[in-house]
Amino acid sequence: MATDKFRCSILLLNALIAFLLLITSFPVFAGSSGTRPGLSPRTATDYIHAVIQADRRVYSHDIVARLSKLGVIKATENWEQDNTLLLPAQFLLKSAELSNERGIGMRYYLTSLWPINKKNSPKSENEITGLQEISRNPKEPFTWIVKEGNRWFYQAIYPDIATSESCVTCHNNHPKSPKKSFRVGDVMGGILINLPLGKQEKHAELGKHQFPPEIISDYVHSILASDREIYSKYIVDRLKNQNIIQASENWWADKTLPLPAQFLLNASQLVEKRKLGIHFRLISLWPINPQNGPANEFEHTGLETVETHPIRPYIGISKIGKKTYFKAVYPDFAVTQGCVNCHNAYPGSPKKDFKLNDVMGGITVSLVMK
Ligand code: HEC
Ligand code: HEC
Repeated sequence: MATDKFRCSILLLNALIAFLLLITSFPVFAGSSGTRPGLSPRTATDYIHAVIQADRRVYSHDIVARLSKLGVIKATENWEQDNTLLLPAQFLLKSAELSNERGIGMRYYLTSLWPINKKNSPKSENEITGLQEISRNPKEPFTWIVKEGNRWFYQAIYPDIATSESCVTCHNNHPKSPKKSFRVGDVMGGILINLPLGKQEKHAELGKHQFPPEIISDYVHSILASDREIYSKYIVDRLKNQNIIQASENWWADKTLPLPAQFLLNASQLVEKRKLGIHFRLISLWPINPQNGPANEFEHTGLETVETHPIRPYIGISKIGKKTYFKAVYPDFAVTQGCVNCHNAYPGSPKKDFKLNDVMGGITVSLVMK
Protein backbone atom coordinates (compact mmCIF):
# COMPACT_ATOMS: atom_id res chain seq x y z
CA MET A 1 0.00 0.00 0.00
CA ALA A 2 2.61 2.48 1.11
CA THR A 3 4.88 1.12 -1.62
CA ASP A 4 2.15 1.71 -4.18
CA LYS A 5 1.79 5.25 -3.00
CA PHE A 6 5.55 5.62 -3.16
CA ARG A 7 5.65 4.22 -6.70
CA CYS A 8 2.78 6.37 -7.80
CA SER A 9 4.35 9.58 -6.58
CA ILE A 10 7.68 8.59 -8.10
CA LEU A 11 5.92 8.12 -11.43
CA LEU A 12 4.29 11.51 -11.14
CA LEU A 13 7.57 13.09 -10.14
CA ASN A 14 9.39 11.48 -13.05
CA ALA A 15 6.66 12.53 -15.47
CA LEU A 16 6.90 16.10 -14.19
CA ILE A 17 10.67 16.21 -14.47
CA ALA A 18 10.54 14.60 -17.93
CA PHE A 19 7.99 17.21 -19.04
CA LEU A 20 10.08 20.07 -17.72
CA LEU A 21 13.09 18.72 -19.52
CA LEU A 22 11.23 18.08 -22.78
CA ILE A 23 10.17 21.68 -23.11
CA THR A 24 13.75 22.72 -22.58
CA SER A 25 16.99 22.39 -24.41
CA PHE A 26 20.35 22.56 -22.72
CA PRO A 27 22.92 24.27 -24.91
CA VAL A 28 26.28 23.91 -23.18
CA PHE A 29 27.39 27.28 -21.89
CA ALA A 30 29.80 28.82 -24.30
CA GLY A 31 32.86 30.18 -22.57
CA SER A 32 33.53 33.67 -21.35
CA SER A 33 31.22 36.04 -23.23
CA GLY A 34 29.02 38.09 -20.93
CA THR A 35 28.64 37.68 -17.19
CA ARG A 36 28.20 34.14 -16.06
CA PRO A 37 25.17 33.52 -13.91
CA GLY A 38 25.96 32.57 -10.35
CA LEU A 39 24.47 31.52 -7.03
CA SER A 40 24.40 33.62 -3.89
CA PRO A 41 26.15 32.05 -0.86
CA ARG A 42 22.83 31.63 0.91
CA THR A 43 21.23 29.85 -2.08
CA ALA A 44 24.33 27.67 -2.33
CA THR A 45 24.20 26.52 1.30
CA ASP A 46 20.40 26.12 1.13
CA TYR A 47 20.86 23.66 -1.75
CA ILE A 48 23.72 21.85 -0.06
CA HIS A 49 21.90 21.63 3.26
CA ALA A 50 18.69 20.37 1.62
CA VAL A 51 20.59 17.36 0.28
CA ILE A 52 22.41 16.59 3.56
CA GLN A 53 19.17 16.88 5.49
CA ALA A 54 17.11 14.77 3.07
CA ASP A 55 19.65 11.94 3.15
CA ARG A 56 19.83 12.21 6.96
CA ARG A 57 16.03 12.02 7.12
CA VAL A 58 15.81 9.00 4.79
CA TYR A 59 18.46 7.15 6.77
CA SER A 60 17.10 7.92 10.23
CA HIS A 61 13.40 7.70 9.33
CA ASP A 62 12.97 5.13 6.51
CA ILE A 63 15.76 2.88 7.70
CA VAL A 64 16.76 3.21 11.37
CA ALA A 65 13.46 4.18 13.03
CA ARG A 66 11.32 1.96 10.76
CA LEU A 67 13.40 -1.23 11.06
CA SER A 68 13.87 -0.73 14.78
CA LYS A 69 10.12 -0.31 15.31
CA LEU A 70 9.50 -3.47 13.27
CA GLY A 71 11.97 -5.31 15.51
CA VAL A 72 14.09 -6.23 12.45
CA ILE A 73 17.41 -4.51 13.25
CA LYS A 74 18.62 -1.69 15.49
CA ALA A 75 21.24 1.02 15.16
CA THR A 76 23.92 0.87 17.84
CA GLU A 77 27.08 2.79 18.62
CA ASN A 78 29.26 -0.33 18.28
CA TRP A 79 27.64 -1.32 14.98
CA GLU A 80 30.73 -3.14 13.76
CA GLN A 81 30.87 -5.65 16.64
CA ASP A 82 27.09 -5.77 17.06
CA ASN A 83 26.36 -6.39 13.34
CA THR A 84 23.80 -3.59 13.45
CA LEU A 85 23.04 -0.33 11.64
CA LEU A 86 25.22 2.75 12.13
CA LEU A 87 23.64 5.46 14.26
CA PRO A 88 22.26 8.35 12.16
CA ALA A 89 25.07 10.63 13.39
CA GLN A 90 27.70 8.03 12.57
CA PHE A 91 26.26 7.68 9.08
CA LEU A 92 26.46 11.44 8.51
CA LEU A 93 29.94 11.71 10.02
CA LYS A 94 31.30 8.84 7.90
CA SER A 95 29.82 10.26 4.75
CA ALA A 96 31.05 13.79 5.56
CA GLU A 97 34.52 12.36 6.17
CA LEU A 98 34.47 10.72 2.73
CA SER A 99 33.34 13.95 1.07
CA ASN A 100 35.68 16.19 3.11
CA GLU A 101 38.66 13.95 2.34
CA ARG A 102 38.20 14.57 -1.39
CA GLY A 103 39.58 18.04 -0.68
CA ILE A 104 37.02 19.68 -2.96
CA GLY A 105 36.79 22.90 -0.90
CA MET A 106 33.37 22.52 0.74
CA ARG A 107 33.31 20.79 4.13
CA TYR A 108 30.39 19.90 6.38
CA TYR A 109 29.90 18.31 9.78
CA LEU A 110 27.55 17.85 12.73
CA THR A 111 28.17 19.94 15.81
CA SER A 112 26.41 20.53 19.11
CA LEU A 113 26.61 22.51 22.34
CA TRP A 114 25.78 19.24 24.16
CA PRO A 115 27.79 16.62 22.29
CA ILE A 116 27.90 12.95 23.26
CA ASN A 117 31.20 12.81 21.40
CA LYS A 118 33.49 15.71 22.36
CA LYS A 119 34.87 15.71 18.79
CA ASN A 120 31.49 17.16 17.77
CA SER A 121 31.96 20.26 19.98
CA PRO A 122 31.88 23.69 18.28
CA LYS A 123 35.30 24.58 16.85
CA SER A 124 35.11 28.38 17.13
CA GLU A 125 33.39 31.29 18.85
CA ASN A 126 31.37 31.77 15.65
CA GLU A 127 30.12 28.19 15.82
CA ILE A 128 29.07 28.65 19.46
CA THR A 129 27.17 31.83 18.56
CA GLY A 130 25.68 30.09 15.52
CA LEU A 131 24.46 27.14 17.62
CA GLN A 132 22.95 29.50 20.18
CA GLU A 133 21.21 31.53 17.48
CA ILE A 134 19.65 28.52 15.70
CA SER A 135 18.41 27.23 19.07
CA ARG A 136 16.64 30.55 19.55
CA ASN A 137 15.38 30.77 15.96
CA PRO A 138 15.34 27.36 14.24
CA LYS A 139 13.52 28.78 11.20
CA GLU A 140 16.65 30.37 9.78
CA PRO A 141 20.22 29.20 9.40
CA PHE A 142 22.87 31.41 10.97
CA THR A 143 25.55 32.56 8.53
CA TRP A 144 28.82 34.48 8.71
CA ILE A 145 32.12 34.93 6.94
CA VAL A 146 35.47 34.35 8.51
CA LYS A 147 39.13 34.67 7.61
CA GLU A 148 41.44 31.73 8.29
CA GLY A 149 45.06 32.41 7.41
CA ASN A 150 44.79 34.59 4.31
CA ARG A 151 41.58 32.97 3.03
CA TRP A 152 37.93 33.82 3.44
CA PHE A 153 35.17 31.32 4.12
CA TYR A 154 31.40 31.55 4.12
CA GLN A 155 29.92 29.43 6.89
CA ALA A 156 26.31 28.55 7.57
CA ILE A 157 24.86 26.52 10.39
CA TYR A 158 21.44 24.87 10.01
CA PRO A 159 19.49 23.42 12.95
CA ASP A 160 19.50 19.65 13.51
CA ILE A 161 16.16 18.90 15.08
CA ALA A 162 14.95 15.97 17.20
CA THR A 163 12.46 14.68 14.64
CA SER A 164 11.56 11.50 16.50
CA GLU A 165 11.24 10.11 19.99
CA SER A 166 14.24 7.86 19.32
CA CYS A 167 16.64 10.85 18.99
CA VAL A 168 15.53 12.14 22.36
CA THR A 169 15.44 8.82 24.24
CA CYS A 170 18.85 7.74 23.09
CA HIS A 171 20.58 11.07 23.80
CA ASN A 172 18.89 11.64 27.17
CA ASN A 173 19.85 8.14 28.33
CA HIS A 174 23.36 8.10 26.91
CA PRO A 175 25.94 8.07 29.75
CA LYS A 176 28.13 10.60 27.90
CA SER A 177 25.35 13.04 27.02
CA PRO A 178 25.80 16.39 28.83
CA LYS A 179 22.09 17.14 28.40
CA LYS A 180 19.31 14.85 29.63
CA SER A 181 16.26 16.98 28.93
CA PHE A 182 15.87 16.95 25.12
CA ARG A 183 12.29 16.90 23.85
CA VAL A 184 10.92 16.10 20.39
CA GLY A 185 11.17 19.23 18.24
CA ASP A 186 14.20 20.61 20.09
CA VAL A 187 17.29 21.79 18.29
CA MET A 188 19.88 19.16 19.27
CA GLY A 189 22.76 20.60 17.31
CA GLY A 190 23.59 21.93 13.89
CA ILE A 191 24.90 21.00 10.47
CA LEU A 192 27.76 23.29 9.59
CA ILE A 193 28.59 24.01 5.95
CA ASN A 194 31.87 25.70 5.12
CA LEU A 195 32.44 27.18 1.63
CA PRO A 196 35.78 28.65 0.53
CA LEU A 197 35.56 32.19 -0.90
CA GLY A 198 39.20 32.73 -1.79
CA LYS A 199 41.90 35.19 -0.86
CA GLN A 200 40.59 38.57 -1.90
CA GLU A 201 39.56 41.13 0.66
CA LYS A 202 36.47 42.04 -1.38
CA HIS A 203 34.97 38.63 -0.58
CA ALA A 204 34.43 40.02 2.88
CA GLU A 205 31.42 41.87 1.49
CA LEU A 206 28.84 39.41 2.69
CA GLY A 207 26.25 38.44 0.15
CA LYS A 208 28.07 39.99 -2.81
CA HIS A 209 29.89 36.82 -3.70
CA GLN A 210 28.49 34.68 -6.50
CA PHE A 211 29.42 31.01 -6.79
CA PRO A 212 29.68 29.44 -10.24
CA PRO A 213 26.80 26.94 -10.39
CA GLU A 214 29.05 24.10 -11.56
CA ILE A 215 31.01 24.37 -8.29
CA ILE A 216 27.88 24.16 -6.12
CA SER A 217 26.60 21.33 -8.28
CA ASP A 218 29.92 19.48 -7.67
CA TYR A 219 29.44 19.98 -3.91
CA VAL A 220 25.89 18.65 -4.08
CA HIS A 221 27.06 15.68 -6.10
CA SER A 222 29.87 14.98 -3.63
CA ILE A 223 27.30 14.63 -0.82
CA LEU A 224 24.99 12.41 -2.88
CA ALA A 225 27.87 10.19 -4.00
CA SER A 226 29.28 9.92 -0.46
CA ASP A 227 25.96 8.98 1.11
CA ARG A 228 25.39 6.53 -1.73
CA GLU A 229 28.77 4.89 -1.20
CA ILE A 230 28.45 4.70 2.60
CA TYR A 231 24.94 3.29 2.30
CA SER A 232 26.01 0.65 -0.22
CA LYS A 233 29.23 -0.35 1.58
CA TYR A 234 28.36 -0.12 5.25
CA ILE A 235 24.66 -0.91 5.19
CA VAL A 236 23.55 -2.86 2.10
CA ASP A 237 26.66 -4.94 1.28
CA ARG A 238 27.93 -5.46 4.86
CA LEU A 239 24.59 -6.64 6.22
CA LYS A 240 23.90 -8.80 3.16
CA ASN A 241 27.32 -10.47 3.42
CA GLN A 242 26.57 -11.30 7.05
CA ASN A 243 23.14 -12.69 6.11
CA ILE A 244 21.44 -10.19 8.40
CA ILE A 245 19.19 -8.21 6.07
CA GLN A 246 18.83 -7.59 2.34
CA ALA A 247 17.89 -4.64 0.18
CA SER A 248 14.85 -5.25 -2.01
CA GLU A 249 12.62 -3.30 -4.36
CA ASN A 250 9.50 -3.83 -2.20
CA TRP A 251 11.40 -2.80 0.90
CA TRP A 252 8.37 -1.38 2.65
CA ALA A 253 6.26 -4.55 2.44
CA ASP A 254 9.27 -6.91 2.73
CA LYS A 255 10.58 -5.21 5.91
CA THR A 256 13.97 -4.89 4.22
CA LEU A 257 16.39 -2.11 3.27
CA PRO A 258 15.54 0.20 0.35
CA LEU A 259 17.74 -0.31 -2.72
CA PRO A 260 20.52 2.29 -3.10
CA ALA A 261 18.52 3.76 -6.01
CA GLN A 262 15.44 4.07 -3.80
CA PHE A 263 17.47 5.75 -1.05
CA LEU A 264 18.38 8.47 -3.55
CA LEU A 265 14.83 8.66 -4.92
CA ASN A 266 13.30 9.04 -1.47
CA ALA A 267 15.71 11.86 -0.69
CA SER A 268 14.98 13.47 -4.05
CA GLN A 269 11.25 13.42 -3.25
CA LEU A 270 11.81 15.08 0.12
CA VAL A 271 13.82 17.85 -1.51
CA GLU A 272 11.26 18.20 -4.31
CA LYS A 273 8.51 18.86 -1.76
CA ARG A 274 10.39 21.88 -0.46
CA LYS A 275 10.35 23.55 -3.92
CA LEU A 276 13.76 25.11 -3.38
CA GLY A 277 14.92 24.98 -7.00
CA ILE A 278 17.20 21.94 -6.72
CA HIS A 279 16.45 18.58 -8.35
CA PHE A 280 18.41 15.35 -8.67
CA ARG A 281 17.78 11.93 -10.11
CA LEU A 282 19.39 8.65 -11.11
CA ILE A 283 19.44 7.71 -14.80
CA SER A 284 21.06 5.14 -17.04
CA LEU A 285 21.36 3.98 -20.65
CA TRP A 286 20.69 0.44 -19.32
CA PRO A 287 17.95 1.03 -16.76
CA ILE A 288 16.31 -1.81 -14.85
CA ASN A 289 13.35 0.52 -14.50
CA PRO A 290 12.53 2.10 -17.89
CA GLN A 291 11.43 5.24 -15.99
CA ASN A 292 15.13 5.82 -15.27
CA GLY A 293 16.15 6.14 -18.91
CA PRO A 294 17.39 9.51 -20.23
CA ALA A 295 14.46 11.97 -20.44
CA ASN A 296 15.83 14.06 -23.31
CA GLU A 297 18.70 14.67 -25.70
CA PHE A 298 20.75 16.45 -23.05
CA GLU A 299 20.60 13.52 -20.63
CA HIS A 300 21.28 11.02 -23.42
CA THR A 301 24.37 12.85 -24.62
CA GLY A 302 25.38 13.43 -20.99
CA LEU A 303 25.26 9.71 -20.19
CA GLU A 304 27.24 8.79 -23.30
CA THR A 305 29.80 11.48 -22.57
CA VAL A 306 30.41 10.59 -18.91
CA GLU A 307 30.66 6.92 -19.78
CA THR A 308 33.55 7.75 -22.13
CA HIS A 309 35.01 10.62 -20.07
CA PRO A 310 34.08 10.01 -16.44
CA ILE A 311 36.67 12.58 -15.28
CA ARG A 312 34.16 15.44 -15.34
CA PRO A 313 30.41 15.97 -15.48
CA TYR A 314 28.54 16.93 -18.63
CA ILE A 315 27.00 20.38 -18.04
CA GLY A 316 24.59 22.82 -19.61
CA ILE A 317 22.59 25.97 -18.95
CA SER A 318 19.10 26.77 -20.18
CA LYS A 319 16.23 29.17 -19.63
CA ILE A 320 12.59 28.36 -18.97
CA GLY A 321 10.60 31.58 -18.81
CA LYS A 322 12.45 33.88 -16.42
CA LYS A 323 14.34 31.08 -14.71
CA THR A 324 17.85 30.01 -15.59
CA TYR A 325 18.73 26.38 -14.90
CA PHE A 326 22.13 24.82 -14.52
CA LYS A 327 22.19 21.12 -15.17
CA ALA A 328 24.86 18.44 -14.86
CA VAL A 329 25.13 14.70 -15.45
CA TYR A 330 27.72 12.94 -13.25
CA PRO A 331 28.94 9.38 -13.75
CA ASP A 332 27.49 6.87 -11.28
CA PHE A 333 30.12 4.25 -10.53
CA ALA A 334 29.80 0.64 -9.45
CA VAL A 335 31.51 1.38 -6.13
CA THR A 336 30.90 -2.07 -4.64
CA GLN A 337 30.60 -5.64 -5.93
CA GLY A 338 27.02 -5.50 -4.64
CA CYS A 339 26.05 -2.96 -7.34
CA VAL A 340 27.48 -5.24 -10.02
CA ASN A 341 26.06 -8.53 -8.75
CA CYS A 342 22.56 -7.21 -8.26
CA HIS A 343 22.29 -5.44 -11.65
CA ASN A 344 23.85 -8.29 -13.63
CA ALA A 345 21.44 -10.79 -12.09
CA TYR A 346 18.34 -8.62 -11.91
CA PRO A 347 15.41 -9.88 -14.03
CA GLY A 348 14.85 -7.44 -16.88
CA SER A 349 18.22 -5.71 -16.55
CA PRO A 350 19.28 -4.79 -20.12
CA LYS A 351 22.99 -5.20 -19.28
CA LYS A 352 24.49 -8.25 -17.57
CA ASP A 353 28.23 -7.62 -17.78
CA PHE A 354 28.87 -4.70 -15.41
CA LYS A 355 32.24 -4.82 -13.63
CA LEU A 356 33.48 -3.14 -10.45
CA ASN A 357 34.14 0.61 -10.99
CA ASP A 358 32.22 0.72 -14.31
CA VAL A 359 30.05 3.73 -15.04
CA MET A 360 26.60 2.23 -14.53
CA GLY A 361 24.60 5.38 -15.18
CA GLY A 362 24.46 8.96 -14.05
CA ILE A 363 23.30 11.28 -11.30
CA THR A 364 21.71 14.43 -12.66
CA VAL A 365 21.78 17.63 -10.63
CA SER A 366 19.72 20.64 -11.68
CA LEU A 367 19.88 24.02 -9.93
CA VAL A 368 17.76 27.11 -10.43
CA MET A 369 20.03 30.14 -10.46
CA LYS A 370 19.25 32.76 -7.82
C1 HEC B 1 20.63 4.93 19.49
C2 HEC B 1 21.20 6.20 19.91
C3 HEC B 1 21.03 7.46 19.10
C4 HEC B 1 19.97 7.85 18.32
C5 HEC B 1 18.70 7.11 18.00
C6 HEC B 1 20.32 9.19 17.82
N1 HEC B 1 21.55 9.56 18.27
FE1 HEC B 1 22.45 11.32 17.90
N2 HEC B 1 24.17 10.55 18.59
C7 HEC B 1 24.31 9.36 19.29
C8 HEC B 1 25.71 9.14 19.57
C9 HEC B 1 26.30 7.94 20.31
C10 HEC B 1 26.41 10.24 19.03
C11 HEC B 1 27.91 10.46 18.99
C12 HEC B 1 28.43 9.84 17.71
C13 HEC B 1 29.91 10.01 17.53
O1 HEC B 1 30.34 11.03 16.99
O2 HEC B 1 30.64 9.11 17.94
C14 HEC B 1 25.39 11.12 18.45
C15 HEC B 1 25.68 12.34 17.85
C16 HEC B 1 24.72 13.27 17.52
C17 HEC B 1 24.97 14.66 17.20
C18 HEC B 1 26.35 15.32 17.17
C19 HEC B 1 26.69 15.84 18.56
C20 HEC B 1 26.94 14.75 19.57
O3 HEC B 1 26.04 14.52 20.41
O4 HEC B 1 28.04 14.11 19.53
C21 HEC B 1 23.77 15.25 16.96
C22 HEC B 1 23.52 16.70 16.62
C23 HEC B 1 22.77 14.21 17.09
N3 HEC B 1 23.38 13.03 17.42
C24 HEC B 1 21.42 14.41 16.87
C25 HEC B 1 20.53 13.34 16.75
C26 HEC B 1 19.21 13.43 16.14
C27 HEC B 1 18.57 14.70 15.64
C28 HEC B 1 18.69 12.17 16.15
C29 HEC B 1 17.36 11.69 15.59
C30 HEC B 1 17.13 11.95 14.16
C31 HEC B 1 19.68 11.29 16.77
N4 HEC B 1 20.77 12.04 17.12
C32 HEC B 1 19.50 9.93 16.98
C33 HEC B 1 23.29 8.53 19.64
C34 HEC B 1 22.03 8.53 19.04
C1 HEC C 1 19.89 -5.42 -4.47
C2 HEC C 1 19.88 -4.94 -5.83
C3 HEC C 1 20.58 -3.65 -6.21
C4 HEC C 1 21.75 -3.13 -5.72
C5 HEC C 1 22.64 -3.68 -4.61
C6 HEC C 1 22.00 -1.93 -6.47
N1 HEC C 1 21.01 -1.71 -7.39
FE1 HEC C 1 20.90 -0.19 -8.69
N2 HEC C 1 19.00 -0.63 -9.04
C7 HEC C 1 18.36 -1.79 -8.67
C8 HEC C 1 16.98 -1.75 -9.12
C9 HEC C 1 15.92 -2.83 -8.92
C10 HEC C 1 16.81 -0.50 -9.76
C11 HEC C 1 15.54 0.07 -10.34
C12 HEC C 1 14.85 0.84 -9.21
C13 HEC C 1 13.60 1.53 -9.64
O1 HEC C 1 12.57 0.87 -9.73
O2 HEC C 1 13.66 2.74 -9.93
C14 HEC C 1 18.11 0.16 -9.70
C15 HEC C 1 18.39 1.41 -10.27
C16 HEC C 1 19.67 1.87 -10.51
C17 HEC C 1 20.01 2.95 -11.41
C18 HEC C 1 19.03 3.74 -12.26
C19 HEC C 1 18.83 3.06 -13.59
C20 HEC C 1 18.09 1.74 -13.48
O3 HEC C 1 18.77 0.69 -13.60
O4 HEC C 1 16.84 1.73 -13.26
C21 HEC C 1 21.37 3.08 -11.37
C22 HEC C 1 22.21 4.07 -12.14
C23 HEC C 1 21.86 2.12 -10.41
N3 HEC C 1 20.80 1.39 -9.91
C24 HEC C 1 23.19 1.96 -10.07
C25 HEC C 1 23.57 1.23 -8.94
C26 HEC C 1 24.84 1.37 -8.25
C27 HEC C 1 25.98 2.27 -8.69
C28 HEC C 1 24.80 0.54 -7.16
C29 HEC C 1 25.81 0.37 -6.06
C30 HEC C 1 26.17 1.61 -5.38
C31 HEC C 1 23.51 -0.15 -7.21
N4 HEC C 1 22.80 0.30 -8.29
C32 HEC C 1 23.12 -1.12 -6.29
C33 HEC C 1 18.93 -2.84 -7.99
C34 HEC C 1 20.12 -2.73 -7.26
